[in-house]
Amino acid sequence: WNISGFQQDLLDWYEDQKRDLPWRKDRDPYKIWVSEIMLQQTKVDTVIPYFNRFMELFPTVEALAEAEEETVLKAWEGLGYYSRARNLHQAVKEVQENYGGQVPANPEGIHQLRGVGPYTAGAILSIAFNIPAPAVDGNVMRVLSRIFTIYDDIAKGSTRKLFESIVEDIISPNNPSDFNQGLMELGALICTPKSPSCLICPVGKHCAAREEGVQALLPVKAKK
Ligand code: ADE
Repeated sequence: WNISGFQQDLLDWYEDQKRDLPWRKDRDPYKIWVSEIMLQQTKVDTVIPYFNRFMELFPTVEALAEAEEETVLKAWEGLGYYSRARNLHQAVKEVQENYGGQVPANPEGIHQLRGVGPYTAGAILSIAFNIPAPAVDGNVMRVLSRIFTIYDDIAKGSTRKLFESIVEDIISPNNPSDFNQGLMELGALICTPKSPSCLICPVGKHCAAREEGVQALLPVKAKK
């Protein structure tokens, strides 16, 4: 399996085909953080207008830290899962107090933030700071389960850890930011849950599931 060929094919495709999303205009860690929290339980198309309005109301860590909780919840109205907004607001206040408004650029600092789990921490570290950290969500598990024909139950925590260790092994050392976003984008646009577009997949030649014709059987998610 050709690691650098896979990295190059994924990065070339991402550079060429990535969607023009508002949180991709720059690498401001605050904006990446807010976008990843919004995207946790909400679809991209729904998030876009909320994200844009949120950035107009609260353009910086300082602005959000100084806002009243009521105002923040009002801006979140319609997105649901309001504990996300409360945790984000609390964590942003802590960043303002403890780090002078600078989102910490290291795993220890990021992992301590309220509401930031392993996926979100990895997303911020890689996308904003270009640190080679895995950011494994359902999309990424689907993509990697197919590329490597991994039949482990993706509902298990141990399986997510397996995928994190795989990403650590294959992530582009030069461009972890676009590598992780490329995996997410591939899951959103090509390697979809139903009827994946294997014939036009930019990394199809690296994919074991396509080779064996088993993409429809993956990922495995055991019933509750
Ligand atoms: N889903 C989760 N994070 C995302 C991102 N940064 N871009 C697009 N979709 C996502």
